[in-house]
Amino acid sequence: MSIQNKQIEDLVRRRAAARMGGGQKRIDAQHEKGKLTARERLALLLDEGSFEEFDMFVQHRCTNFGMDASHIDGDGVVTGQGTVDGRLVFVYAQDFTVNGGSLSKTMSEKICKVMDTALKVGAPVIGLNDSGGARIQEGIDALAGYAEIFERNILCSGVIPQISLIMGPCAGGAVYSPALTDFTLMVDKTSYMFLTGPAVVKSVTGEVVSQEELGGSRVHASKSGVAHFTAETEEEAIERIKLLLSFLPQNNLGTSPLKPTSDPVNRTDDSLNSIIPDNPNKAYDMYAVIRSVVDDGEFFEVHRDFARNIVVGFAHVGGRSVGVVANQPGVLAGVLDINASRKAARFVRFCDAFNIPLLTLVDVPGFLCGTQQEYGAVITNGAKLLYAYGEATVPKVTVTLRKSYGGAHIVMSCKQLRGDINYAWPSANIAVMGADGAVGVLYGKEIKAEENPEKQAALIEQKKQEYNDLFCNPYQAAQKGYIEDVIEPRNTRFRVIRAFEVLEGKRQDIPAKKHDNIPL
Ligand code: HXC
Repeated sequence: MSIQNKQIEDLVRRRAAARMGGGQKRIDAQHEKGKLTARERLALLLDEGSFEEFDMFVQHRCTNFGMDASHIDGDGVVTGQGTVDGRLVFVYAQDFTVNGGSLSKTMSEKICKVMDTALKVGAPVIGLNDSGGARIQEGIDALAGYAEIFERNILCSGVIPQISLIMGPCAGGAVYSPALTDFTLMVDKTSYMFLTGPAVVKSVTGEVVSQEELGGSRVHASKSGVAHFTAETEEEAIERIKLLLSFLPQNNLGTSPLKPTSDPVNRTDDSLNSIIPDNPNKAYDMYAVIRSVVDDGEFFEVHRDFARNIVVGFAHVGGRSVGVVANQPGVLAGVLDINASRKAARFVRFCDAFNIPLLTLVDVPGFLCGTQQEYGAVITNGAKLLYAYGEATVPKVTVTLRKSYGGAHIVMSCKQLRGDINYAWPSANIAVMGADGAVGVLYGKEIKAEENPEKQAALIEQKKQEYNDLFCNPYQAAQKGYIEDVIEPRNTRFRVIRAFEVLEGKRQDIPAKKHDNIPL
């Protein structure tokens, strides 16, 4: 055998060894936990044959605690580039079979290289997290490694989409990298995220709590909002992320790919002409409206289980990717509260950063009142959504379906927040408040003075009627040019598509500044 052939054989052997990570026993242990290995995950995510690995032979440089005696090529993370549906992405997948996927300085260097390259060429970064956190043997070096990653998460923010999949433990400061990225998905039962685990919680506060209760996927999807998505299996998780990518551009200078559809642009839907109940306090399902308007009825929801009184997600209209924000009358009457405001504000800002137009469907009775909301800073949190819409320069099309009252009217992409095209259905009520509240304030004394209960009820009804006739309709707003048109509900799809077509070339600036100061 020639020397060159021996060298090639050695390369093949080293590559094969590196691909085994921590070895067959640990791979089996990973499978027994219902988890895939880093390489198996990447094989599912990336188009076949597209993966190009970086730094396969990198080894850690730690000499503490006998670490110099154990070196595994690749050092616990598989990094590189590949394509998803033909589009370039950069990836890193932590390998739990090597030192529990714990983060060494060299592992962070590998991850940072992927992020730097992604930033340089303008492509999304997808991180598959499965790690015991900072590699304990490395001390400050491991912490420095995390900080290097966090800094890149910050620099990449708003330039390239960043997506985190949590497919195992994610504890301590390690949770901050996913928190800095745009979207986080957690796999049910096999992943968890928390700053301090149950044992530390018990010793510090006395609280007894399981891993699942403290930081499982359900908790973060419904209570904290840390997770935007969950999936029952790793396979499902990867499919969801692929779908998510199909709505996103490669970077902040690009636009999302068009998705051809056979759903007619001029399709009308008679069911929308009867969807609003006669009783203004009765709910209807906003999902039905969204599905009716978007292409093929396909809506990719973000944060489905968190703050369900507002609905956000991606869809295509006339082939264009748009972000949909809609109040949900079926949950808390669609009121805006702290969590709904936070959820929608972050989504609106993501869309604006990545040139994704915004479709807003409004049916909002106002902001939730009371001490719980005030003490929790509903003022500051509500201002986040107001701010997000006000600064957004992407095309903004808004349709008011029913209620649009007070501050919540302004927040939900009104004309004066540089809304581009604002439509209303004939059932729209655009006013400072609903008739019940308004009549109480305006005619309270007169109503109280009427001692006959029947006459009193009739007076209330009469005043409410007068108020509704004057204010609770879309025509006051239409007469003053605050909305462009009152449209028939059945025509919403094609009016919305035409509006986005018109806005295709929209150019709008914000004053030059170092950065803004959104009320955090
Ligand atoms: C070094 C680690 C490690 C770590 C796990 N391992 N975590 N090695 N540093 N942080 C090693 C284990 O020693 C073991 O090695 C192998 O990985 C697999 O771990 P097991 O414990 O056998 O696996 P399992 O039973 O599944 O438990 C997984 C685990 C547990 C729950 C993650 O390993 C664990 O609690 N690890 C420590 C978690 C932690 O507290 N990390 C620090 C968080 S603070 P062998 O050789 O025996 O197979 C943090 C600060 C970041 O990360 C700050 C950023 C600013």
